[in-house]
Amino acid sequence: MSRQAIAHPNIALVKYWGKRDLELNLPAVSSLSLTLDGFRTVTTVERSSGDAVFVGPARASDRFASRALRFLDTLVPGRPPVVVKTESNFPAGAGLASSASGFAALTLAAAATFDQDLSLQRLSAWSRRGSGSACRSFWGGFVVWDRGTRADGSDSHGHPLAPREHWDVAMVVAIVATGPKAVGSTEGMERSRQTSAYYEQWVATAEADVAEGREAVLARDLDRLGAVMESSTLKMHATMHTARPPILYWQAGTVACLHAVAGLRESGTSAWATMDAGPQVKVLCAASDAETVRDALAPHAAAVHVLRPGSGARLVP
Ligand code: DP6
Repeated sequence: MSRQAIAHPNIALVKYWGKRDLELNLPAVSSLSLTLDGFRTVTTVERSSGDAVFVGPARASDRFASRALRFLDTLVPGRPPVVVKTESNFPAGAGLASSASGFAALTLAAAATFDQDLSLQRLSAWSRRGSGSACRSFWGGFVVWDRGTRADGSDSHGHPLAPREHWDVAMVVAIVATGPKAVGSTEGMERSRQTSAYYEQWVATAEADVAEGREAVLARDLDRLGAVMESSTLKMHATMHTARPPILYWQAGTVACLHAVAGLRESGTSAWATMDAGPQVKVLCAASDAETVRDALAPHAAAVHVLRPGSGARLVP
């Protein structure tokens, strides 16, 4: 018995950073995201006589394998042994949300293999235990993840805001540097929470940012969405920069891209930057401006990808 699932990464437009419960992986703040096409993870889960995890054709590292298998143990205690095979068509661990598409695809394939007939909301809440941002990849287009208030986390999952067809935008991703990041998201969030003087303000202002982002998406107001998106990104990075020891994902190319985006706006193109836990810069713009944005970022980046709104995670029939 084996099942295969496909999921796409999502990029937060209003960011998730910080946890209110480490064990259940509950966020301190709500967030708003855009699911992307182009990049994807395909994962197969197959019942077997023993556990094994493969990334592409090769055995996964012990760290990767035990994170995936322990996650499956929390979902279905006493589960049967499985072979997991996963493959992504984009670099992992470089701030491109590989854990989002990875845990969304793993959750969906595993639930089907274990005969768990669950709603997308339940699957989303399950995937959150593996990696928070995964819970937003179950829907296409624009998705909100409510922080929720229940102690058991049952109200902390994604829900769709607007489908991919709602708005013809592009996310232009400038790859400034590849390779694994020095500080993982979970560690970075905890360090920010424990040591940054700005963390409290980050949490205090996040729900209003999500509310503004939602309104801007529904009104297809790019300037308004872009402004709150950049502000959310820079506030999030401010908590990292002011942590002890500080976390600085930015490279020289990162700053050059941010200036290029500001320059685009000065010359009349509505382009807005966001970043995650890594050096890459992702630029939101109208689909019709994507090539102009690509040309502006290309001199500062090793590669530039133009991605469009994508669909939600799904089982391969
Ligand atoms: C900066 O979902 O990778 O990309 O829940 O600890 O696995 P864990 O974190 P993860 O964090 C992503 C944080 C972010 C912003 C975002 O995607 O909202």
